[in-house]
Amino acid sequence: MTVASVTVIGLGPMGQAMAGAYLDQGYEVTVWNRTPGRADGLVVRGARRAETVAAALGANDLVVLSLTDHAAARAILEQAPAALSGRTLANLTSDTPDRVRETAEWVAARGGVQITGGVQVPPPGIGTPEALTYYSGPREAIEAHRTALEVLTGIDYLGEDPGLAALYYQIGIDMFWTGLVGYLHGQAVARANGISAREFLPHAIKTMDFQYFLEFYAPRIDADHHAGDVDTLAMGAASLEHVLHTAQASGVDGSVPAAILELFRRGTAAGHGQDSLTSLTEVLRP
Ligand SMILES: NC(=O)c1ccc[n+]([C@@H]2O[C@H](COP(=O)([O-])OP(=O)(O)OC[C@H]3O[C@@H](n4cnc5c(N)ncnc54)[C@H](OP(=O)(O)O)[C@@H]3O)[C@@H](O)[C@H]2O)c1
Repeated sequence: MTVASVTVIGLGPMGQAMAGAYLDQGYEVTVWNRTPGRADGLVVRGARRAETVAAALGANDLVVLSLTDHAAARAILEQAPAALSGRTLANLTSDTPDRVRETAEWVAARGGVQITGGVQVPPPGIGTPEALTYYSGPREAIEAHRTALEVLTGIDYLGEDPGLAALYYQIGIDMFWTGLVGYLHGQAVARANGISAREFLPHAIKTMDFQYFLEFYAPRIDADHHAGDVDTLAMGAASLEHVLHTAQASGVDGSVPAAILELFRRGTAAGHGQDSLTSLTEVLRP
């Protein structure tokens, strides 16, 4: 019986988790990292350390890339372009859709295939059944390596365009960063007022359960239906002023609510004061 095998290039927290998940499943794992010492723990667990990028690419048909960005991916792949021929790169490295498409073309021109992925969980989620990764690119390449890819996470396949997975990933991360900074800002105000983060946690969980709003607003956004029957920008702006003043009175930096208040004011100036918050999607769009 042939042992399943894979190469993992990039051993930050995510690549470490991925290589570890393959080792746990009995794969033969070849690893390469710019800073070789980051492979030490994996080598102790049974991984093979490739001495060069060419050796890492040459070791296996499937090569998982987990790097900071596509500039890093290119800096690595350019060390051994001839070794790309016949390889499938599962490039799970975050970047913009355009840069991801450029890398896919560059790899294809050298005889390789790029599958693009956007991992939707942090490193501890790798190898757990509910985790998902956005994938796009050639369907047959994904199907050919489905078993190995599913060692990491489930597959959320979006289509042939290699940029699609990056686009969905960036949209999700847009929501994630802005939402999470809201949480951190609120916790800073709580802390400044002697309320611990753990004390406020149950209230934060309730407040940040956005599911009702996401579902209520989505069809209205699609229909450009911004009636102010439930909420208005004017109400939101008044509320944000209270938030801003509370933060400032607590000695907390107010730049986050101030930026949102400014956006609400722009919406109001554009004539949306009595429209719903969803009218901001029109203010934001080109
Ligand atoms: N961590 C998360 O929670 C998470 C969640 C979802 C998705 N992701 C995505 O997964 C990817 C990897 O995540 P991570 O947390 O492991 O990121 P990271 O810590 O930024 O990854 C660093 C890896 O990239 C390498 N690298 C950076 N610049 C390089 C260059 N110029 N040349 C060669 N190698 C270079 C590093 O090598 P050295 O070790 O030599 O520095 C290391 O292997 C990122 O695209 C990230 O956006 C991360």
